[in-house]
Amino acid sequence: MVGPATVGRVNESWSARTRAILAGRPDAGDGNPANVPLVPASALGLDYSREVGTPTWAAFEEAVGALEGGTATAYASGMATVTAVLDLLPAGATIAVPVYSYAGTRGALDHAQQQGKLTVRRLEPTDTDAWIAAAAEADVLWLESPTNPTLDVMDLDAILTAARSSDRAPLTVVDNTFATPLGQQPLGKGADVVVHSVTKFIGGHSDLLLGVAVTARDDLSTSLRDARTRTGATPGTFEAWLALRGLRTLGVRLAEASKTASLLAERLAAHPAVARVRYPGTGAMVSFDLADGDAAERLCANLKLIHNATSLGGVESTIERRAHLPGDAHVPDGLLRLSVGLEDPDDLWGDVSAGLGG
Ligand SMILES: Cc1ncc(COP(=O)(O)O)c(C=O)c1O
Repeated sequence: MVGPATVGRVNESWSARTRAILAGRPDAGDGNPANVPLVPASALGLDYSREVGTPTWAAFEEAVGALEGGTATAYASGMATVTAVLDLLPAGATIAVPVYSYAGTRGALDHAQQQGKLTVRRLEPTDTDAWIAAAAEADVLWLESPTNPTLDVMDLDAILTAARSSDRAPLTVVDNTFATPLGQQPLGKGADVVVHSVTKFIGGHSDLLLGVAVTARDDLSTSLRDARTRTGATPGTFEAWLALRGLRTLGVRLAEASKTASLLAERLAAHPAVARVRYPGTGAMVSFDLADGDAAERLCANLKLIHNATSLGGVESTIERRAHLPGDAHVPDGLLRLSVGLEDPDDLWGDVSAGLGG
């Protein structure tokens, strides 16, 4: 398998932000390109790319692996990644999942339960005692923190410690999409697998679909590769190349968006029309509750700058009332999920405050 020539060059002592820029690059010198080339190839000699990957995927995987502290496998989307992890589970496994978490993941779990493949238990994300109890009873703990769209922060340290010391030894999976690989590294806390929708902050420009799973366990890494080969949920070469380009600026994007997000969270909290602000203190996501669904829809319709659009993590700010989706119908009706981009903070606040009626 042809891979990028950088293995071993990324220094562990460098900060994550520095590694995000350097990991997965071709060696400098000898006329080498500064960036991994786009290699659109189904065959590499007698090797088939669905089985062995391509140098472009490998560079992206190397970079994400260097940030999360494991071996990464890229997939066609975040949901292809979730499905590959579910593919590892034995029939009849019991899986605990947060009541509030990405609707697509919960939908996939409900589907598996309806087919008699899994038993699903839904727990409040912040009920740490319930998660600690589940560590002794479930086969899999599916964690997501902060959660989509309620931005609940789960106590990963306590839950992963309980899982590691449990005789049941549940498989622990963390969806790290909202925190990003720069915000937290769950493998270092003892998680077995980390998953990302690369579509969001890593890609960062709302122009691709991609996912990645990372693990420090060789057995799981082999199984995750095998699942990709079997299902054919392979990443697009151009998407992997774009995602690597996006990863290079994740540090500055996140730092800037996080500053703006905390400013907006503060101003929203002081606004009389806002019933509740959900901001974890860092990151680019702010959710907030208005009085009801009508008020939330009215704000979306009034906004001139912020796009009323689904998805998140791009350079442009987007807002969505999630309860309009069947999978999120249990989310408070007036909850709006705001993904803060890189626009001027005062322009963003001007748009929100005018939309709320001053
Ligand atoms: C937290 C989280 N995980 C997984 C996914 C699924 O990713 P994708 O849309 O790339 O399939 C999403 C998508 O919104 C998400 O928000």
